[in-house]
Amino acid sequence: MTSDPQSTAPQAQAREPQALAQAQAAYDAFRARGLKLNMQRGQPSDADFDLSNGLLGALGETDLSMDGLDLRNYPGGVAGLPSARRLFAAYLDVKSENIVVWNNASLELQAFVLTFALLHGTRHSTGPWVHQKPKFIVTTPGYDRHFLLLQTLGFELLSVDMHDDGPDVEAAEALAAADPAVKGLLFVPTYSNPGGETISAEKAARLAGLKAAAPDFTILADDAYRAHHLDDAAQTVNFVALCRDAGVPDRAFVFASTSKITFAGGGLGFVASSEDNIRWLSTYLNAQSIGPNKLEQARHVKFLESYPGGIDGLMKDHAALIAPKFRAVDEVLRAELGEGGEYATWTNPRGGYFSSLNTAAPVAKRVIQLAEEAGVSLTPAGATYPGGNDPHDRNIRLAPTRPPLNEVHTSMQVVAACIRLATEEYRASEGRAGGQQDS
Ligand SMILES: Cc1ncc(COP(=O)(O)O)c(C=O)c1O
Repeated sequence: MTSDPQSTAPQAQAREPQALAQAQAAYDAFRARGLKLNMQRGQPSDADFDLSNGLLGALGETDLSMDGLDLRNYPGGVAGLPSARRLFAAYLDVKSENIVVWNNASLELQAFVLTFALLHGTRHSTGPWVHQKPKFIVTTPGYDRHFLLLQTLGFELLSVDMHDDGPDVEAAEALAAADPAVKGLLFVPTYSNPGGETISAEKAARLAGLKAAAPDFTILADDAYRAHHLDDAAQTVNFVALCRDAGVPDRAFVFASTSKITFAGGGLGFVASSEDNIRWLSTYLNAQSIGPNKLEQARHVKFLESYPGGIDGLMKDHAALIAPKFRAVDEVLRAELGEGGEYATWTNPRGGYFSSLNTAAPVAKRVIQLAEEAGVSLTPAGATYPGGNDPHDRNIRLAPTRPPLNEVHTSMQVVAACIRLATEEYRASEGRAGGQQDS
């Protein structure tokens, strides 16, 4: 019987040094190549950017106005150029009255909403959040910049797991019901960072109607990858409508941008919510700015409306460049590590910018270190958990969009070699530790 340790131990002892030696040799061969590859940040490739170069010439010398407003002056207030509000309202499936189109970063809008809530409270608050030792729920694994933003603003973070069909709503409900200091949830509803999960319609409705102890419990849905499909379009959700239908119309703010549509640092960010919330936000925006860059807004409107197929057409062209890279990630991992989970499991997203890998052994830090030493830069270990602390040391975010396809391929071969080596090292050390205990 295999349960007899006497009969299995010699086999295992014979296999381990051999597997470790093989893994070490394969890794050393990659390391000797002196590679310099980067799979660290989720950025578009130059080929992706090239699709939007027309943006730079979209306004000519005679394009001085749009919507009857002089683009060179301070036109039209803080909520954005009417044509831009129309375009991005349609993108988020809301009305123009429900959106503010701002400058280049949706993260900045998330910071504005959170900061104004801290200083003034939201429409249903009993006072400024800052006096209430506020806590916020995040999903893990998740986006390091969400954690950084919330922690920098002084929030205590509470984690719930991200499942294949969205956040663990039961866990979020329990946290929100137990404590009025739990002010909300920040997460990515479509093709999440890093796992690529999309929330189901059922979960989204349940989240919208969640019973919270705080009267001002707020859902911040960062829909950064709403249109970033790699194959058939996923079902997107509309939290503004869901919260209205649930009788809590001011509960949700939905954020998105063109950072992964046109230019990463030169696009437009926008936020949708109830009309009352848009007025609330505009009041504070108006105190700090005469308005966003309307020339950039006009340029985006002209470019995106004239692109063949509009935004959808542009996203299909991006998908043609990006989908083969995600396929390469999956193919190399399956070929090198097998599909049984002996070394790792990973997500195979249908959109977005990332894939999330979990090692079978607690070796994520070691894998990332080995990869760095072999010339492949990965997202730092732990980055997908608050405080940079992955409690299981297993999660690695893979970001294949920026490098050319052949580099994605090579990088993933190196990553697979690192996972094999780190796992065999771990198993060998566990075997030794086990042996010592036995003796
Ligand atoms: C989930 C998510 N939100 C926001 C951003 C950044 O968006 P923006 O450039 O609009 O600030 C990223 C970029 O990686 C992201 O992954």
